[in-house]
Amino acid sequence: MNDTISDRRKDLRARHDRVMGQGAPLFYDEPIQLVRGEGVWLYDVDGTRYLDCYNNVPCVGHANERVVAAMHSQAATLNVHSRYLHENVIRYAERLTSLHHDGLESVVIVCTGSEANEIALAIAREATGRAGIVCTDATYHGNTPEVAKLTHRPVDRPAAGVRSIATPQMYRPSTPGLSEDQLCDGAIADLETQIAAFESDGTGFAGAIFCPLLANEGLTNPPAGFFERMVDVVHRAGGLVIADEVQAGFARSGSWWGYETVGFRPDVAVVGKPMGNGLPIAGVVAPHDLISNFRQRHRYFNTFAASPLQAAAGNAVISEIESRGLVDQVARVGADVKSELQQLQPERPSMGDVRGHGLFIGVDWVHPGTTDPDPDGAAAVVEAMRSRRVLLSRAGEHGNVLKIRPPLIFDSEHADILLEAFAEATDGTLGV
Ligand SMILES: Cc1ncc(COP(=O)(O)O)c(C=O)c1O
Repeated sequence: MNDTISDRRKDLRARHDRVMGQGAPLFYDEPIQLVRGEGVWLYDVDGTRYLDCYNNVPCVGHANERVVAAMHSQAATLNVHSRYLHENVIRYAERLTSLHHDGLESVVIVCTGSEANEIALAIAREATGRAGIVCTDATYHGNTPEVAKLTHRPVDRPAAGVRSIATPQMYRPSTPGLSEDQLCDGAIADLETQIAAFESDGTGFAGAIFCPLLANEGLTNPPAGFFERMVDVVHRAGGLVIADEVQAGFARSGSWWGYETVGFRPDVAVVGKPMGNGLPIAGVVAPHDLISNFRQRHRYFNTFAASPLQAAAGNAVISEIESRGLVDQVARVGADVKSELQQLQPERPSMGDVRGHGLFIGVDWVHPGTTDPDPDGAAAVVEAMRSRRVLLSRAGEHGNVLKIRPPLIFDSEHADILLEAFAEATDGTLGV
């Protein structure tokens, strides 16, 4: 019987590689074949139940009843493109913008974070009449042409209209041995250098884009004051600050927006992943004049975006987050998980750093006694957790940061399961 199951899995894997192409990514040494999700739980084809500590898109839980019912009812009534008036689409846009600070009052709704970031870059470039964008050197903001230029852009290898600064970070800074203030001064000086380079090569400076949680960078902790000073420098140079909230937004960090958690006010906010609990929705939220200028220049249209179906899912997600008090729950449960993980550190020298905000926690896995990244060790932990039926993954420049990012409905009882499995999986059996 076991042979049959394993043969069937091998066969599906071979068909996957054939029809999806070699290199289409799958998690785990032995990929999991999922068939069902419910709340924070995922079930595979054999009926094995996994605690989902990885997926941020199903933010209000897998197969959330309210979202499913809203989508079902809307799909059974009407779903068309955005060239007709629809009450719920407008209502959704009003609710989304009202969750942001004053000034971010209009929105372009799209389907993916990449599309949204592409528009945000265009808005910054058109508003300033200049092209230069600064990002970090270990970032990812999407896969469309302009946005892809930002991906892991080395500081010494600018692309047309894109320059980077070293990822600001306290744990593994590019210049070790400096105080926090000196690290902040250094990061701000790097930003000023890149802006000056744009000015001197004739590109001009349009703006800077940052994920407030520096999520793809490995959830690094920047030195205190970095974001505040960054906004000041960007504005003095006449640029716009874009906050990429695709991962950081929608209560993930224990506030509605990552920029609130880390303390700055962007000119443009880009939202995505969790907005539709799995239905593709993303958006660019910005001042009315910037959005109107963009629309007038481009007559932008996106076939599946700003549809009644998207609005139904999006409204249901906001209602769930609000009515279940998930912003506070995420802050409370996330702080507990982080502090419990920190208590495991003294006996596990591979846990170099435990950091993050809300329910987005990173464990920087290192070679003991050093801060040298250990991606193989981190991969072994991910596999060991999987064998204990807890799903997580890795992030960061070196692929050595364990990424713990469960659906927002993750509560204390789930945290206990995660922490027990983690303590067991890392208790010395991995050679730590
Ligand atoms: C911070 C960030 N921005 C943008 C994107 C791109 O979003 P999408 O995959 O929906 O295009 C991602 C995707 O992982 C992301 O992590």
